Amino acid sequence: MKHFITFEGIDGSGKSTISKLVLEKLKTMGHDVVLTYEPTNSWIGKCVQKCIETNSDPFITAFTFIADRIEHGIQIQKWLDTGKIVLCDRYAESTYAYQGVQLQDKIKNPIKWLKELSKDRIPQPDRTFIFVIDPEKSLSRIQNRDKLIPFERLSFLEKVHSNYLKLASGKQFLKVDALKEKEHLTNICVSDIIK
Ligand code: TYD
Repeated sequence: MKHFITFEGIDGSGKSTISKLVLEKLKTMGHDVVLTYEPTNSWIGKCVQKCIETNSDPFITAFTFIADRIEHGIQIQKWLDTGKIVLCDRYAESTYAYQGVQLQDKIKNPIKWLKELSKDRIPQPDRTFIFVIDPEKSLSRIQNRDKLIPFERLSFLEKVHSNYLKLASGKQFLKVDALKEKEHLTNICVSDIIK
């Protein structure tokens, strides 16, 4: 049985939809489970939203995402300590993948640097699902949203996508084909979590 599970992928990959379906299915099975997300809706999460909307300096953006996560991690640890299963829609790999792109021309090996800054200060997931989808397809899925944010551009998402693929090695990760049916994806995630 896994307790702390994160869902990752580029915008429009469907991870938010599937994490909600996984929540419902685990609840139906009688598990004590909570679904949370990042950026959070705390005051730091609101600063994160501001960074995104105003296309803020990449260092400020990275530090703000990490601060939001350290605060969030305290709550996540409390849930884990009371025996809950915690599902989280975006977590550390979002920062490595997205801010890794934003910082790529600014410092050497940004992903390594971002990991060093935050890894030991936050709970580590037992499983991270990476929703793999071609960036053109994911963008076409979100084209009809009211307002696209600056990250939702093809050239940017292609680099984020490639970072996710690089990050996805190691036993924490399970790549899933985001184009499969919702029910199929939900079943893959649930059976892996309760294994
Ligand atoms: P999110 O709220 O998941 O987007 P959506 O509106 O599609 O549900 O996340 C907002 C954006 O922030 C998204 O483009 C991913 C990006 N992001 C980062 O760049 N770094 C991070 O650490 C996180 C958590 C998100």
